[in-house]
Amino acid sequence: DEDDKERARKRNNEIISSLGKEEGWIEEYMYEYQGFWYPSVTIVEGVMWVQQNFKPRHEDILLVTLPKSGTTWFKPLMFAVMNRTHFDLSTHPLLTTSPHDLVPFLELYLHHKIPFPNPDTFYPPQLFQTHIPFTSLSQYVMESQCRIVYICRNPKDVFVSTFYFLEKSRDKKLTPLSLEKAFELFCKGLSLYGPFWDHVLGYWKASLEVPDRVLFLKYEDMKRDSSFHLKRLAEFMGYPFSVEEEKQGVAHDILELCSFENLRNLKVNKTGNIITTNNNQVENHRFFRKGEVGDWKRHLTAEMEDGLNKLIEQKLAGSGLAF
Ligand code: A3P
Repeated sequence: DEDDKERARKRNNEIISSLGKEEGWIEEYMYEYQGFWYPSVTIVEGVMWVQQNFKPRHEDILLVTLPKSGTTWFKPLMFAVMNRTHFDLSTHPLLTTSPHDLVPFLELYLHHKIPFPNPDTFYPPQLFQTHIPFTSLSQYVMESQCRIVYICRNPKDVFVSTFYFLEKSRDKKLTPLSLEKAFELFCKGLSLYGPFWDHVLGYWKASLEVPDRVLFLKYEDMKRDSSFHLKRLAEFMGYPFSVEEEKQGVAHDILELCSFENLRNLKVNKTGNIITTNNNQVENHRFFRKGEVGDWKRHLTAEMEDGLNKLIEQKLAGSGLAF
């Protein structure tokens, strides 16, 4: 067993030392692993750790997103749906715990063995979250047949949200990244877990091939018609709302609990920190910026809009997916 571990460590190190590099958003470089770009070696190590060790059960559920696609919204929504018989809304763990501390982020928590804050809040089956691309999910995940919920958001809002989030996380020794430069990187596919289009298409195709296993949901759709999509989500997850629950407005209460305004104004989300890579701390409040559809209009020029629209159209051509 120890020999196996040692061999795996060596193999991982060899792979890591030969990764392709490009200019980074947070650190000097970002790294290419299995066709996708990662913001640090620590995250690549985390992804490898997940690939080699994470064995979900059939009943577990995996939430997958690209960073800044609304993970901070869907974590609490799905947690609240799955655990609604365990908790009362007035004493719900989401009122005192960050969504990020309730739903483990696989390539960070498990690899770095950051303890889950409150084991009392975990009832099997469990909800996990990752940003790993479909083609890099391990055979364990595929064999488990666990359900996968993929959330995507329009690329212009993802870009703007990423830019403002990472601006503050960027290594202070580096020159700041301008919006124009960041945009150029994004359009070249050099974004977090990018290329954006390859990430999205991987799960889009999977959702068409195995619709009972992979649900593909857009942030904008959830914003527009929350109750319809929450019901759909709950059904897919295997936790449909009963007629009785519908009468009691349970879905509505969950949406209220998880609304941007409600979560963002909780003390825990206004004050606390969470640990990200390399022991960096990120203040919880930074996960709640605007929570709007179309904020990109305030930040991108008409030329940028046009360029990105054309690029995305071309990359998604023939897939049936559009933004
Ligand atoms: P903006 O930067 O556009 O405001 P992630 O959680 O994947 O990092 O995504 C963060 C984005 O989701 C941010 O977008 C954030 O404001 C938004 N968000 C966080 N909580 C939300 C909520 N409860 N409802 C809607 N959007 C939310």
